Amino acid sequence: MNLSIPPRDPPIVDPPIRLAVLLSGTGRTLENLIREIAAGRLRAEIVLVAASRPGVRGIEIANEAGLPVAVVPRRQFGSVEVFSQAVFDQVRAVGVDLVVLAGFMSLLRIPQDYAGRVMNIHPALLPAFGGKGCFGHHVHEAVLAAGATESGCTVHFVDNVYDHGPIILQRRVPIEPGDTPDTLAARVFREECQAYPEAIRLYAEGKLHVDGDRVRID
Ligand code: GRF
Repeated sequence: MNLSIPPRDPPIVDPPIRLAVLLSGTGRTLENLIREIAAGRLRAEIVLVAASRPGVRGIEIANEAGLPVAVVPRRQFGSVEVFSQAVFDQVRAVGVDLVVLAGFMSLLRIPQDYAGRVMNIHPALLPAFGGKGCFGHHVHEAVLAAGATESGCTVHFVDNVYDHGPIILQRRVPIEPGDTPDTLAARVFREECQAYPEAIRLYAEGKLHVDGDRVRID
């Protein structure tokens, strides 16, 4: 019998979302995103890692993973505007869908073509415990000093103010008796490792809609 099998059209699948990850330090957030992508839990491609400081661990992590790295040292640029322009020049050059701030310590001026396409994660429940100077351990120290009963993390779209912009999602953790900034930071970071990939997934699936200062999730 002569069986003729017609050729099949290749499946039509959206390409993975193209991410730029911006960092200034240890790169644990980058590491988590690399892990999520490798495990197939996040359909994304990191097409650029941009560091605002040379010599940081985050650059090593990117190099080990074979990711393209650009170093844009904040100190070499005077104003926020000029620095931001240099960062977004790198971003545009490789065609990025979404910019993900991952322990990025510098203020950015978001250009019009990237408005609503830059996300940040903060290790507290914004709008509390955010803003200039409220980063790293300062955040957890302030949360404990205030006697808060819970903390958590916030993923938000970035505007031109520190830790500000429409909130996408938050995950909460309790404050436990005897907590130190270190123990609290570790508990919050475990939630960050879930929250950031989740927010990126929602964005990639077109489920996030910004309505003024609010985000609607479909
Ligand atoms: C986390 O606390 C995150 O919320 C904040 O930076 C810290 C992670 O930095 N944006 P890194 O990824 O370890 O450099």
